[in-house]
Amino acid sequence: MDECGPNPRRSMLTWLVGGSQVLGLVAVVLTGVWMGRYRGGFAWDGSAQEFNLHPLCMVLGLVFLQGDAILVYRVFRNESKKSVKLLHGTIHLLALIVSIVGIAAVFDFHRASQIPDMYSLHSWCGLATLVLFCAQWVLGLMFFLFPVASAWLRAVYLPLHVFCGVVLLVMAIGSCLLGMTEKLLFSIRTTYSTLPPEGVLANSLGVVLVCFGILLTFIITNEEYRRPPNPEELALSVHFKTLTEGAASPTP
Ligand code: HEM
Repeated sequence: MDECGPNPRRSMLTWLVGGSQVLGLVAVVLTGVWMGRYRGGFAWDGSAQEFNLHPLCMVLGLVFLQGDAILVYRVFRNESKKSVKLLHGTIHLLALIVSIVGIAAVFDFHRASQIPDMYSLHSWCGLATLVLFCAQWVLGLMFFLFPVASAWLRAVYLPLHVFCGVVLLVMAIGSCLLGMTEKLLFSIRTTYSTLPPEGVLANSLGVVLVCFGILLTFIITNEEYRRPPNPEELALSVHFKTLTEGAASPTP
């Protein structure tokens, strides 16, 4: 039994998950302080303050909330699969809404200030991340929450869904780092090399985001922290094995 008595693996997971939450929250707070204290705060009026919502929403939605949505399968290991799936889908939906607000803010700011759209590497990588994130959410909903696909197709799609989840987190953090560098060059190009407080804060935010990504990838890819399969999943994997091996073996 996984959860009977003190379990060193389980308590290690608790520490790792706790650490990831601290890093994620620090990232959101640092982004808020950067945009709030150094870049003039927030508004929704087409001004630079509207742009400031963009980094905050992207770090909160596509990094912190997306990371937490993935973690629920490692944290709630003994709750029913259905409730965990629902929580996973709901946190992802929240992440999607917050990210769409963040993207709307930057497009609206560009429109109001007559700045061209989609010219930078950051905007290309960022939009690709968001499009892939939407596709992953819709497919996840269709395959797992309201399963329209056969058990066989779901079993084939699951590893791809997990792989894309990790890729998306890496792409989101990579896009943030590109966007942050661009923002620093736009706003403090002439003083950045003298390590002003704003530069130090933004660099620290970048390091925190990278650490968050590394810690989450470690937790997600570590076999020991996987949810133990329940009878329904075991039956599905036996069914899948029978189907694939049956198809491979010659007919008698
Ligand atoms: C995963 C997170 C992010 C995504 C998906 C994303 C996506 C985008 C997209 C699609 C644009 C283009 C908007 C347009 O052309 O009108 C953009 C612009 C911009 N973003 Fe982000 N962004 C993210 C995070 C960040 C962060 C954390 C910063 C840090 C300050 C940032 C800074 C910028 C800047 C300065 C622009 C305007 C210049 C440009 O178009 O490249 N972004 N972002």
